[in-house]
Amino acid sequence: MSRKKIIAANWKMYKTPEQARQFMEEFVPLAAGHTRDEIVICPPFVDIAVVAEKASGTAIEVGAQNLYWEKEGAFTAEISAEMLTGAGCKWVILGHSERRQYFGETDDTVNRRLKVACEAGLAPIVCVGEVKEEREAGITEDVLRRQCARAFAGISARKAAKMAIAYEPVWAIGTGLTATPEMAAQAHALIRQEAASAFGDDYAKQLRILYGGSVKPENARDLLSQTEIDGALVGGASLKPDSFTKIVKW
Ligand code: 13P
Repeated sequence: MSRKKIIAANWKMYKTPEQARQFMEEFVPLAAGHTRDEIVICPPFVDIAVVAEKASGTAIEVGAQNLYWEKEGAFTAEISAEMLTGAGCKWVILGHSERRQYFGETDDTVNRRLKVACEAGLAPIVCVGEVKEEREAGITEDVLRRQCARAFAGISARKAAKMAIAYEPVWAIGTGLTATPEMAAQAHALIRQEAASAFGDDYAKQLRILYGGSVKPENARDLLSQTEIDGALVGGASLKPDSFTKIVKW
């Protein structure tokens, strides 16, 4: 079964609304007519409106980098799923390793956010990946299995229909180190097995698993030409229209 690849930009904490507007003004014409892959941009919350406005009428889709699981309430500084859909988001990144590392995100909070994102009709990109010490200790497989199993707990295949997974080995994020295409393909196969045991074989066959971690114009083709790699989640190299375009057009 052929799965349409997703090329997603994670802007992290970069770009003011004005810088986001400038990016879109350059990027939209560069990406015009590109339909082979799905293109998603996940800017900081305050840039969503301008990115959504500039993306409207194009094939470019917009995502957020997180959400909170409550519908509304006295939760200062948090953003709900409905706020995201209302602002024009179709996608949301969940459980990014930077959230886990610096902001106390756990497998359990990823699961709570995932349930709410699915319920709201958002397409979640759930991030999993091992840290350097875990890879060196030979426990990558256990870590990925645990992160997936706990994230998926209590969620049905129907609810998770729009979900994608991003395999991001933490040691490859922002370091210039990338997993070899073979290493990534191996991790992806394992994640697909975990998805099969949670949601069934048919679900697992259509699940898109992205790779993230120092994806650049120079290595995009090697990674994306692997059949097990269904897309890329791009940090640093997504911040400039020309380098992101080169990745989109891998
Ligand atoms: P870099 O592409 O900067 O390594 O970041 C990867 C990432 O964390 C995407 O979510």
